[in-house]
Amino acid sequence: MSALFSPITIRSIQLKNRIVVSPMCQYSSENGFANDWHLVHLGSRAVGGAALIFTEATAVSPEGRISPHDLGIWKDDHIAGLKRITQFINQHGSIAGIQLAHAGRKASHHRPWDGGKAIPPAEERGWETVAPSSIPFIEAEPRPLALTKEGIENVLIDFQDAARRAVEAGFQVAEIHAAHGYLLHEFLSPLSNQRTDEYGGSFDNRIRLLLQVIEQVQAVWPEEYPLFVRISATEWTEGGWTADDSVALASVLKTKGVDVIDCSSGGNVAHAKIPVGPGYQVEFAERVKQEAGIMTAAVGLITHVDQAEAILANGQADFVLLGREFLRDPYFPLHAAHALGDDIIWPSQYERAKPK
Ligand code: FNR
Repeated sequence: MSALFSPITIRSIQLKNRIVVSPMCQYSSENGFANDWHLVHLGSRAVGGAALIFTEATAVSPEGRISPHDLGIWKDDHIAGLKRITQFINQHGSIAGIQLAHAGRKASHHRPWDGGKAIPPAEERGWETVAPSSIPFIEAEPRPLALTKEGIENVLIDFQDAARRAVEAGFQVAEIHAAHGYLLHEFLSPLSNQRTDEYGGSFDNRIRLLLQVIEQVQAVWPEEYPLFVRISATEWTEGGWTADDSVALASVLKTKGVDVIDCSSGGNVAHAKIPVGPGYQVEFAERVKQEAGIMTAAVGLITHVDQAEAILANGQADFVLLGREFLRDPYFPLHAAHALGDDIIWPSQYERAKPK
């Protein structure tokens, strides 16, 4: 049995292998609702053999959407559409995970294929964005409102209500999105968080909101279900959040009952120079795993079977998340098992195509 296809149980959830579909925005919803696109898109990856399939960043509030087309979970009406998807995923032997997200100052943008620019609040379909401080991501964009104490309270309530709905919708893994320059990452980083209250300044103050969100989610999230947190392990920028900060944060999150740190990077500084290349973020998953002693997920340009297998076999991470490779090949796990000589179960409907 390869490392890639070794099953693992986290809390009470059994994952049949270590291959995970990374959260990927589809910008295909209206008013946050899941539809046939999401069913086919996520469902195909279950048919393809991924152990765990994360939804895209799923907004905990309407103002927490990156675009007007983001998937959402801010009202009970959203549950039914999501449930249809989790049921399909489960029927095909995979686990459904949801990424709970608030876009902060990077909200209210057109989707990429509509140009991707900020939509000013005065424009139709735009809204006022919120952030730790009134600092835009890009100078030319509208300034976000600095969250008041009441605003922060509302964010906490939104995350908790979203997590409660996620359980009802049948998700068995949740990932809190604290990466890529969205709201929770904005609080972590001294570059975007210049608050002078208990949410800004020191490291302990900057991680406070994330810890509170985790606590709110855990209050409704079943103990037997795993909780992941995605971080940007470095901002690749002088004066920004560092890999050392990530190790320190992960050590705290471990004591709070978080199960897996999903190690991405960047996204909070527009002009950061990121040395993008094969497996360029694996080093962070490895450091966090070794130094904080917590399970980690590696992500970022993991595209080949041997590469994925080596990351796991070398003990650099416990999971590999694939993004774009899964868009190119929904059946990556089926192909990977064949390449590694692991005999896995194919969907009955496709059995006759299984390589011998
Ligand atoms: C992403 N990514 C992303 N990340 C995240 O945490 N939440 C999200 O909703 C999205 N949305 C998204 C959409 C699309 C179309 C892409 C390509 C990417 C980032 C993604 O999860 C992953 O971290 C990166 O794409 C790097 O991994 P790959 O693509 O090199 O395997």
